[in-house]
Amino acid sequence: MPQFYKKRIVCYAVFSLFLVVAFSSCQSDEETKRQKYITEGILLYRKNCANCHQADGAGLAGLYPPLVNSDYLRANKNAVICSIRYGQQGPIKVNGKTYNRVMPPQLQLSNLEVAEITTYIYSQWGNDKRLITGKAAEALLAKCAE
Ligand code: HEC
Repeated sequence: MPQFYKKRIVCYAVFSLFLVVAFSSCQSDEETKRQKYITEGILLYRKNCANCHQADGAGLAGLYPPLVNSDYLRANKNAVICSIRYGQQGPIKVNGKTYNRVMPPQLQLSNLEVAEITTYIYSQWGNDKRLITGKAAEALLAKCAE
């Protein structure tokens, strides 16, 4: 094999290796952040949400809807973030069952706290795992305040 090709192959190999390393270290950064948010999110959830939705997310009879495997959580990713701070009311359907009560606003929750709670509830109970950063929550919350 000509020297020229050998060099080329080595070069490609090194470059691919670099890409793999860069990509996987990016991913684990995000995963580390998600785990941090979850740790805070658990505490905030217990304090601000578990009264109604229960510590295990199962909800309470016909009064408070479940967060476990919630099709509503899956379908309303932005609206959920607004509701956590600004509350919500009016009939909604969760996993085939209708609920119609008031979820009170919790204006004391900071953007970061809303992000941590959201990341936590999406990481539990068979919901779609996602990381909502404090910045992303801030942008969404500014929109729903309007
Ligand atoms: C005082 C009771 C109460 C508290 C506290 C409360 N909620 Fe709710 N939540 C409700 C009710 C009632 C509904 C349904 C509202 C409706 O009928 O429109 C609801 C709806 C929801 C929904 C959408 C439906 C579903 O089950 O997927 C989510 C998500 C949710 N709450 C998350 C939270 C989170 C997170 C917190 C804590 C920050 C919280 N709630 C605090 C009563 C509460």
